[in-house]
Amino acid sequence: MNNRYVQNGLIAIAAISLFACNNASQQTASPDSTNLPQAATESVTACVSYLNKKSFEDTIDGKATSLYVLKNNNGACVAITNYGGRIVSIVVPDKNGKPTDVAVGFKTVKEYQGPGDAYFGALVGRVGNRIAKGKFTLDGKEYTLATNNGPNSLHGGKKGFSAVVWDATQPNDSTLSLTYVSKDGEEGYPGTLTSNVTYTLGADNAIRINYKATTDKKTVVNLTNHTYFNLNGEGSGTILNHLVQIGADKYTPVDATLIPTGKLDPVTGTPFDFTKPTAIGSRIDTAKNIQLKNGGGYDHNFVLRNAGPALHPAAEVTGDQSGIVMNVLTTEPGMQFYIGNFMSGKNSFKSGAKDDYRTAFCMETQHFPDAPNQKNFPSIVLEPGKEYTSTTIYKFAVKK
Ligand code: GLA
Repeated sequence: MNNRYVQNGLIAIAAISLFACNNASQQTASPDSTNLPQAATESVTACVSYLNKKSFEDTIDGKATSLYVLKNNNGACVAITNYGGRIVSIVVPDKNGKPTDVAVGFKTVKEYQGPGDAYFGALVGRVGNRIAKGKFTLDGKEYTLATNNGPNSLHGGKKGFSAVVWDATQPNDSTLSLTYVSKDGEEGYPGTLTSNVTYTLGADNAIRINYKATTDKKTVVNLTNHTYFNLNGEGSGTILNHLVQIGADKYTPVDATLIPTGKLDPVTGTPFDFTKPTAIGSRIDTAKNIQLKNGGGYDHNFVLRNAGPALHPAAEVTGDQSGIVMNVLTTEPGMQFYIGNFMSGKNSFKSGAKDDYRTAFCMETQHFPDAPNQKNFPSIVLEPGKEYTSTTIYKFAVKK
C-alpha cells in the first residue's frame, strides 16, 4: 500500500468533525468497489488517467469545451468540464488509502448533453430548484419561464446554466474559475447576469465553491451545484446505507409537484430527522409518510440551523464501506437532499456502472425552492449594484 495514503489517512482521522456529537464508528469490512484502473491508483493525477481529456474537447454553441483537473499533494483530484461547470470526478483516498471516485458522472461531454442527463455534477442556475408554474412577479411585472418539470420550472429552465459553456481559466493546479454571462431575457429571466464560480481544491481535501453574480436589472438568483455523490465510489451500489447527519431542525414540506407548502415543519419524530447520524434508508419505506410519497423518497429542502452570512455546517455523510466522510459547509440557508429517486439505470457512468435507482445522492446548498413566490422564505432578489455571493465546501476525510 502506498505510504502516502496511510499517512494521509492518519491526518484525515485527526481532522475535527463538524458535528462534535457524531461518534459513529465504521465497520472495518474492506470496500469491494474498485473505481479506478490499477495504473491510476498510485497517482494524484488519477482523474486524468481515468478520463480521456479528448472526450471532453468539443465546440458547443461556438465555444470550446475541455476537461480541467485540480489536484493536491494529499491524494485528491477533481475533474471539471466547463460544459455546465460540471464536476466529473472527485478522487479521494478511502480508509485503506485506495483512491476512490466519489462523484458520479459520464466519460464524455456528449453524454452530458444527452437525454439521460439529470444535472450530473452541474452548476445550476439562474435559479436552482423549482419555481411554481414557471411564474413569478418582480415589481408588479409577471415573468414567465419554461415549465420543464411537470407544471413547474426546474433548475433554470430548458437550457439552464448546466447546459451552457462557461469561460474557464485555471490560474494554478488547485483553482478553476468559470464565468458565464446570461443575457437579459434568457430563459425568461430579467437582467444580464454575470456569474463567476471558482472551484478550489485545498490541501485538506476540501472542494470550495465560491459563487458570485451581478446584474444590470433587478432579477432572481439561486446558484447551486448538483454533484451526485456515492462515498463508497461510483458504481458501488446503493447509497441507502450511508450515514447522514444534517444540521437542520426543520424542513420545507412540499406538495405532490415538489413545490413547498410555505411551512417550515419540525423534523422531530419524522423520517426527516437527521439530527443524529442515520442510515439514509432506515426510514425510507414509510409508505404512510406523505412527504416521502410526494418526493418519491428524500427530495426536500432542509432549513439549516444557525444560518447566517458565515459558513455553517450543513451535513456530514459517511460511506458505509469506504469510511470516506464528507462534510458540507455553506453560507446558504437551505440544502436540498435528493437521493436519486429518478435514477433509472438507463445510462452508463464512467466506471461502466448503470445509474441505478438511489445509487447516488445530492446535497444542493441553496435558498429555499420557489423563493420568488413565497413571501416568508429568504429572498433571492438581486439588485443592480449589489453582488450575490455564496460559498459551499465539500470536505473529504476518512473514519476507520
Ligand atoms: C433536484 C430535484 C429533483 C430532481 C433532480 C434531478 O434535486 O429536486 O427532484 O429533479 O434535481 O433529477
